[in-house]
Amino acid sequence: MNPKLYLPIAATLEKVVEETHNIKTFFLTPSSPLAFLAGQFVELTVPGVGEAPFTPSSSPAISDRLEITIMRAGTVTERLHALAPGARIGIRGPLGQPYPLDLFQGKEILIAGGGVGLAPLRALLFALFEDIGKYKKIIVRYGARSPEDIVYRQAVEKAWNKADALDVMTTVDKGNAFWTGHTGVVTSILDKNKLKINPAAAVAVVCGPPIMMKFTTLKLLEIGFDPDAIYLSMEKNMSCGVGKCGHCRLGPYYACKEGPVFTYRQIMDLPKIWE
Ligand SMILES: Cc1cc2nc3c(=O)[nH]c(=O)nc-3n(C[C@H](O)[C@H](O)[C@H](O)COP(=O)(O)OP(=O)(O)OC[C@H]3O[C@@H](n4cnc5c(N)ncnc54)[C@H](O)[C@@H]3O)c2cc1C
Ligand code: FES
Repeated sequence: MNPKLYLPIAATLEKVVEETHNIKTFFLTPSSPLAFLAGQFVELTVPGVGEAPFTPSSSPAISDRLEITIMRAGTVTERLHALAPGARIGIRGPLGQPYPLDLFQGKEILIAGGGVGLAPLRALLFALFEDIGKYKKIIVRYGARSPEDIVYRQAVEKAWNKADALDVMTTVDKGNAFWTGHTGVVTSILDKNKLKINPAAAVAVVCGPPIMMKFTTLKLLEIGFDPDAIYLSMEKNMSCGVGKCGHCRLGPYYACKEGPVFTYRQIMDLPKIWE
């Protein structure tokens, strides 16, 4: 066994950006460059507390500084949220399989994100931007609980919306007095005619909470996507992250090793995939 699989390197927390009341983006400088591909994940260690898996949200073209967007959920994330710039944590990876960008070439790409699930999709967007001419069209559909829960707000509402190559639309489950955008769950902005997409020549990439992934997948099938063309980030509970402990078992797969990115075809017949 390669002991390095388990050995974190040190990383310094340079900056923290508060995205929402429970989500922050952490800017980390690893002690040596950490190259990853969009969709792969890393394990972050808070010394004396524990480890948890996260997908970098920054550009895979940059390996000497990583951005990781983290929602406060329990023990490790609570402690990460309490850290201030200058703190040192551990990082191990990259782990798992990336999005197969070579299979996306020449296609229309529909990216559907929910909540903090936009994090890995942001890294994917950066990777697509590197070679934008290779893709026919990029459509982003993002859903958040409320306007206050939108992550990367500047980018989602301004920069991405202005990019010619991108068609971005955001919806919130519940608006507020200032919200003028769409209200409804993310599937309500996945109308085939309004998307102007040809499912036969497209791929869809989905990341979000399990309930959002489930209903988005069903909607994509309804509008004509093939199960092979739907890519899902399956964020199962993980421990070792390297295919040894079995925590992340998904039928015949270890989500940490063969995933976290799977096509719907790969997992559609397995029980309880949305739990
Ligand atoms: C491959 C991968 C990539 C991820 N990327 C991100 C990311 O970019 N940003 C982000 O905010 N989160 C991400 N997550 C989820 C993140 O790993 C969990 O929120 C984190 O492990 C919680 O750790 P904790 O110690 O704070 O909470 P814990 O104290 O361990 O748990 C808090 C609660 O959350 C549940 N829980 C723990 N892990 C998960 C999980 N993976 N899925 C569902 N429920 C869980 C527990 O059962 C418990 O109820 C990712 C998960 C995976 C597997
Ligand atoms: S997390 Fe240990 S096998 Fe996947």
